[in-house]
Amino acid sequence: LATGPMLRLRCPTAGEWLPLTQDWSERWCTLPQLYVDRNCERIGAFETRADDVFVVTFMKCGTTWMQELAWLLLNKLDYEGSKQSYVMERSKFLEYSAMGAMVDKDSITACNNMSSPRLIKSHLPAQLLPPEVWLKKRKIIYVARNVKDVVVSSFNFVRGLNMWNGSIAEFVDEFINNKIAYTSFWAHIVDFWRMRNEPNIFFVTYEEMKKDLESVVKRLCIFLEINELSKLEMKELLHHLSFDNMKAHQYTNLTGLLKQSYEINENFDFMRRGIVGSFKDELSDDHRKKLDKWTNDILQQY
Ligand code: A3P
Repeated sequence: LATGPMLRLRCPTAGEWLPLTQDWSERWCTLPQLYVDRNCERIGAFETRADDVFVVTFMKCGTTWMQELAWLLLNKLDYEGSKQSYVMERSKFLEYSAMGAMVDKDSITACNNMSSPRLIKSHLPAQLLPPEVWLKKRKIIYVARNVKDVVVSSFNFVRGLNMWNGSIAEFVDEFINNKIAYTSFWAHIVDFWRMRNEPNIFFVTYEEMKKDLESVVKRLCIFLEINELSKLEMKELLHHLSFDNMKAHQYTNLTGLLKQSYEINENFDFMRRGIVGSFKDELSDDHRKKLDKWTNDILQQY
């Protein structure tokens, strides 16, 4: 994230296929140059399937949690299957090749080779997702999260992976100035928030998942056109998706997988705290105020 040249991209195509805001042309996304060189055109040409489901998030918003949930719903609650391979294997990361080749050296080919129904993860903003997703109105699950918790979670993540040596103060500034990969954060979320009532969009927050996961599961079953779960099925699923269970389970706690590709700090754990409001004891008053002011200023423009 902090290494290599970064590039600010503007939406590459002129809005015809996007059900997006009129001011799309002002939207920027910061991505590593490597990503653009290797993948941009291939993502543009990516062919989707009628039963594809995309899990789209800004990083650290609860992607893995949602992937595990959606994968289980799409695969008849196959807990045995979920214990046989990493969630990143079962639900591939569309643009990952350029980001470190943790699992797939060529993520696009890996997605092409997945059997249906595919659950595909992406952190790309709306305007950079494959155009077919919009043209053919593929199902998208979008998870958003409080920006201050995202900053804290991302900071700990990149620091734990030795991808960031700076201070939290520098990280907050880079985040606000759209220099961290996948920023601009608010543009990412607002686009999907505006589309939240479209039939192919399932918009949910990490905070809602923490507060009442059962209701989220029920809503998601309707969205995915899956039969309602029995009480017992629901109970087992909620247990499986609990933070402690996912932390203990090597295929949902990505720490082991990350260790294979990065020089990870000793105390790094992908399943870090899993709470709402960790910023309260991890961000100084100054940083909180800075992020609040920046948020208010930006959201007033939308
Ligand atoms: P924290 O760093 O705040 O603990 P992503 O999958 O998008 O990278 O998000 C990672 C964040 O989701 C981490 O947040 C992680 O702990 C949290 N998370 C993962 N699984 C979770 C679960 N089952 N329950 C609650 N939080 C979870």
